Amino acid sequence: MDSLVSAAMSTGTIKDAVIDADSLIILKFMVMSVTHLLIGTVQGVIQTFPEFALWIRATGPAGHMIDPLAHAHINLVGGVTMAIMGLFYYVLPKIIKRPIYSRTLSNTSFWFSTIGVLGFFGSLVFLGIIEGNMILDGMTYLQALDAVGPIHHIAIISTAILMGLGYWIFISNIFLTVFKRRGGD
Ligand code: HEM
Ligand code: HEM
Repeated sequence: MDSLVSAAMSTGTIKDAVIDADSLIILKFMVMSVTHLLIGTVQGVIQTFPEFALWIRATGPAGHMIDPLAHAHINLVGGVTMAIMGLFYYVLPKIIKRPIYSRTLSNTSFWFSTIGVLGFFGSLVFLGIIEGNMILDGMTYLQALDAVGPIHHIAIISTAILMGLGYWIFISNIFLTVFKRRGGD
């Protein structure tokens, strides 16, 4: 292994692997996309186990937050659309022969989308489990919501807003790239 690394270093392949700032952003989207897909597919497998599937059905609206809501968004927003964002950032400069308008906007949309979707997923799963257990203890969903308090809406709405901002910043950056030059008109 060591000899492979030193051979690679002497031939320059490791040094060549140092990537530019634009490619680094794309790599971040790709790594985060597959991380979200890993979380979503592991959850998908877990929720096929009969005891979990029954728990989700039995808890009604609370279970609905875990499957399909948390599952759909970690896979579709975190996995699929973040992969598409990375691909757009790779392909668009090749098509229009100039760089993406703003690296700052790319990075901001990356962090808003990542924190937003992980927070949305985490809140839905966490609140779903707490409220689901309250429902199984005999409460109605509304009583469970009352018992949890405003944190339910604060967590879900704030992370949803972050996801939305992540999307809109990405969309703006794509429009700006198509219709304006980086640092120019
Ligand atoms: C190992 C991979 C996966 C497994 C085992 C899995 C499993 C499941 C299960 C058990 C359900 C619930 C079905 C029901 O309630 O009737 C579900 C729903 C769903 N899954 Fe997955 N899933 C996987 C990956 C994915 C991926 C990669 C995506 C998206 C890219 C996805 C998107 C969805 C959506 C959108 C729903 C909700 C469908 C509806 O509205 O009822 N899943 N999945
Ligand atoms: C800012 C971004 C987003 C927010 C805040 C958001 C929020 C929501 C909400 C509140 C629901 C309805 C939940 C319910 O009452 O059952 C929903 C459903 C759904 N969303 Fe999103 N969403 C967003 C983006 C997306 C995107 C981009 C996709 C797909 C690429 C998507 C896929 C879905 C699916 C498949 C459902 C239906 C799940 C089901 O009930 O089977 N969402 N979303």
